[in-house]
Amino acid sequence: MEKKKKAASKQKRTQSPDVAVVMGSDSDLKSMTACFETLDSFGVSYEAHIASAHRTHDYVKRIVTTFDNNGGKVMIAAAGAAAHLPGVVAALTNLPVIGVPMESKMLGLDSLLSIAQMPAGMPVATVAVGGCKNAALLAVQILALGRPELASRYGRFRAQQAEAVIKKSERLRTSGYRNYFSEGGSTR
Ligand code: RP5
Repeated sequence: MEKKKKAASKQKRTQSPDVAVVMGSDSDLKSMTACFETLDSFGVSYEAHIASAHRTHDYVKRIVTTFDNNGGKVMIAAAGAAAHLPGVVAALTNLPVIGVPMESKMLGLDSLLSIAQMPAGMPVATVAVGGCKNAALLAVQILALGRPELASRYGRFRAQQAEAVIKKSERLRTSGYRNYFSEGGSTR
């Protein structure tokens, strides 16, 4: 009994990573890879869960309260169709929650409206349908408010992104539109 208590309190003291990512289903995982890759690229620590607001609501509650109680900072919740997960996560914590509407049979419009149309007083920062990368970037921006080093890294990312676009523009001017793609241009 005593041992169990000690183990439980030890578990309670474990520091949460900065971000918790919760997906409604493993069918969301492939798309959410872009979110994980982006968090990795900024060296931001995170934990990932599959938990459904409808199928496993107690499990969702456990994930959110454990993350919050142990010092986690930002939550990302991705769900599709009747996408209640981000709203439920927001109801369980005062931490900022970023909602990712996943593509669905209705092109993600159902997911988008389910997540974005939260009642006043319960905000969920909603990114675009399939906006997995932007969810991670928004989490980085929030964390960077208190971390100058992360803020500089984010600044460098934005500068590199701008530079890449300008390079494409220059290549278009030098190659002309007919040769752009054959000379290594991209659609992204
Ligand atoms: C949502 O329903 C999930 O987030 C997923 O996007 C969608 C379909 O889930 P599965 O039926 O594939 O588990 O809860």
